[in-house]
Amino acid sequence: MRKLVITTTAVAAVALLALSGCSSRSGDDASGDGASKGFEKGSLIGVALPDKTSENWVLAGDLFKSAIEEAGFKADVQYAGQSTPVPDQQAQISSMTTKGAKVIIIGAKDGGQLGTQVKDAQEAGAKVIAYDRILTDTKNIDYYVAFDNFKVGQLQGQALLDGLKAKFPDKKTYNIELFSGDPGDANAPVFFKGAMDILQPKIDDGTLKVVSGQTDIKQTATKDWLAQNAQNRMDTILQGSYGSAELDGVLSPNDTLARAILTSVKSAGKPAIVVTGQDSEAASIPLIMSGEQYMTIYKDTRKLVKQAIDMATELSKGDKATTTTTTDNGAVKVPTFYLDPIVVTKDNAAEVYKDDDKLAPLTK
Ligand code: BGC
Repeated sequence: MRKLVITTTAVAAVALLALSGCSSRSGDDASGDGASKGFEKGSLIGVALPDKTSENWVLAGDLFKSAIEEAGFKADVQYAGQSTPVPDQQAQISSMTTKGAKVIIIGAKDGGQLGTQVKDAQEAGAKVIAYDRILTDTKNIDYYVAFDNFKVGQLQGQALLDGLKAKFPDKKTYNIELFSGDPGDANAPVFFKGAMDILQPKIDDGTLKVVSGQTDIKQTATKDWLAQNAQNRMDTILQGSYGSAELDGVLSPNDTLARAILTSVKSAGKPAIVVTGQDSEAASIPLIMSGEQYMTIYKDTRKLVKQAIDMATELSKGDKATTTTTTDNGAVKVPTFYLDPIVVTKDNAAEVYKDDDKLAPLTK
């Protein structure tokens, strides 16, 4: 009897949910019913990308243009400029909405500052897909597609530990410094948390010492992901905290910053260190092969762009897009498709990049 009551209640709840799903966008579901009414081939798909802070963004823009057209839609691909990136992106998204885009794919410069634009976009009937970086504190987001950012951080943290052990087999403790990305990029704290998930226990037990004492994300941040900002901070730390102390390793969130950190260490005349990275930028692959940069992460942009276009194509047919999980953006649980990031050192680079025409030759 009890079972029956529960079942009946459950059925009623499902029916109610289904009803509310039909009539309006409501509750905690980011996209209401997830599916769209569908739209025709030839419709406009907008892509708003941030300023070109790393190679992956440049690659993404080119790939989006061709992939959207190959899928049978019209493409409007825009980048934010460097001087006023947030207002640029706001204006670009509004313009895509005005032009009647059916899907707007956004790699946000600052994921917390596009709330008004995505609300307008959805109200005009567009689906909003966050690309690589989630949009925070807004309910007006339908989907998120990215490489698993927390995992990226964990892989970087673990690689830093592995690299230190391999490079300094006689040491029991290591001096390190920590860097994180741009505070406006929602990925930056996630990479950092993932890395600290691995590193914090080793800081607590004394294996790792952050000599500058700068372990808070506000102290480690790199404004705008700019190489110069990381280089300046590393210069200052080396001057202020490393008189006679040796620096052994640095957690760097990406390749652009890793190279800037290496430049700083070199010009201070310090011995080689273990440094992490991300993105598999062409400029870093020779450094990986020579061991100057210990590791990077491969996030194949071709796969991420394809996934975003596959989502748009599913939506064009009136289907829900395929997802693997959800991500809490502070306002809703966003249906998410995560791809797997791959850790790369000189030991597996040739194998990992073997199908990548641009990177494979660099491992020879
Ligand atoms: C991306 C990284 C990139 C960084 C700087 C992040 O949001 O996930 O791949 O290195 O932005 O462009």
